[in-house]
Amino acid sequence: MTKDGKVAVGIIGFGGIARGAHLTSGYRKLPDWCEVVAAADILPERCAQASGQFGIPETYATHTELLARDDIDAVSVCTGNYAHAPITIDALRAGKHVLCEKPMAMNAEECKAMIAAQKETGKKLQIGFNMRYSPGAQSLKRAVEAGEFGEIYHAAARAIRRRRVPSQGVFINKKLNGGGPLIDIGVHITDMTLWLMGHPKPVATVGSAVCKMGKTPGLVAEWGAWDTEAYTVEDFASAYVRFEDGRTMTLLASFLANIDEEHFDTQLFGTGAGAFFDANAGKYKLYREEFGTLTDTTTGWLPSVASTHGKEIEMFLKAIREDMTIDEVGAATGEQALMVTQIMDAIYKSSETGGEVAIS
Ligand SMILES: NC(=O)c1ccc[n+]([C@@H]2O[C@H](COP(=O)([O-])OP(=O)(O)OC[C@H]3O[C@@H](n4cnc5c(N)ncnc54)[C@H](O)[C@@H]3O)[C@@H](O)[C@H]2O)c1
Repeated sequence: MTKDGKVAVGIIGFGGIARGAHLTSGYRKLPDWCEVVAAADILPERCAQASGQFGIPETYATHTELLARDDIDAVSVCTGNYAHAPITIDALRAGKHVLCEKPMAMNAEECKAMIAAQKETGKKLQIGFNMRYSPGAQSLKRAVEAGEFGEIYHAAARAIRRRRVPSQGVFINKKLNGGGPLIDIGVHITDMTLWLMGHPKPVATVGSAVCKMGKTPGLVAEWGAWDTEAYTVEDFASAYVRFEDGRTMTLLASFLANIDEEHFDTQLFGTGAGAFFDANAGKYKLYREEFGTLTDTTTGWLPSVASTHGKEIEMFLKAIREDMTIDEVGAATGEQALMVTQIMDAIYKSSETGGEVAIS
């Protein structure tokens, strides 16, 4: 804690999401609750930026130096995916609460080790699935909880981009990122869908993850040219998921595809009603039968939330300050994020084997 009783926070990995979301849209918007006292990054220029442009008092070249500080209560882990699990485990064992960016880790085995460290230490572990916190998503969740849908027996989720390949960072490097659009953006819409369905346990998946255009030089690049020779991840994936209770889900994810435009959405098929949620717009439509006809209801006014990342950090701090569990504040838990990664693992495996993969 700081001298004036605020949560003392460290940020590990000072790249785009740390600067634009965790620091400026999150912690710095809650100056009465917390103070970012340190940052760590393996790149000296990122440390210089943290202390210079962003005025963070102390910076470190390694996460272990930051974690050695007794006064730090909580950390955001904002490194590339390959470092999420080892740093989160170190941080929990150093007695820090952890908000780890999505995806939780490179694979389910790493996620399980993170959950074990959380249980062993009793510290809080939240995963950065921020899309849940948009007012539209929250409103739709309330409709689900009110029983509007009856049984949601199927969902169709999409996180598909037309020509948006991340050209910076490690996002096209299989070894460092764990995969491509599935693990980068497919995880967001999968978390959203599982959350709306009430987290049914996934038991089997058949899927395919392919690279059809990522290695082709000279394609139109909405986010700038990427290194096609270094491109080692899938550019398109499709999957069919079965849950323990017999319900099902389909998923599409792409960085590149010949489609009209980007779609981040999920469609719920319920016995009492259906819904289409456009996660980018934060709006939904409900499809019902009422008054002897078929009706469509569209969201009108929605409360505005400056940033879903800001909301995510508010929930993390609330859990710490009020000693509530991550589940109690309504944020994404390690156990929930593990289910997402189990589905991703099974899709990659099914793509290799050509068959259905069981999830245990
Ligand atoms: N929730 C979201 O919507 C969202 C959006 C973007 C990125 N992300 C996630 O955030 C993470 C970071 O993404 P980014 O876009 O900020 O990437 P980035 O490349 O801009 O930043 C990552 C930073 O981590 C640093 N780093 C790497 N290994 C480290 C280590 N061992 N110790 C300390 N620092 C280390 C790098 O030097 C770099 O500065 C990824 O896991 C990504 O999936 C989430």
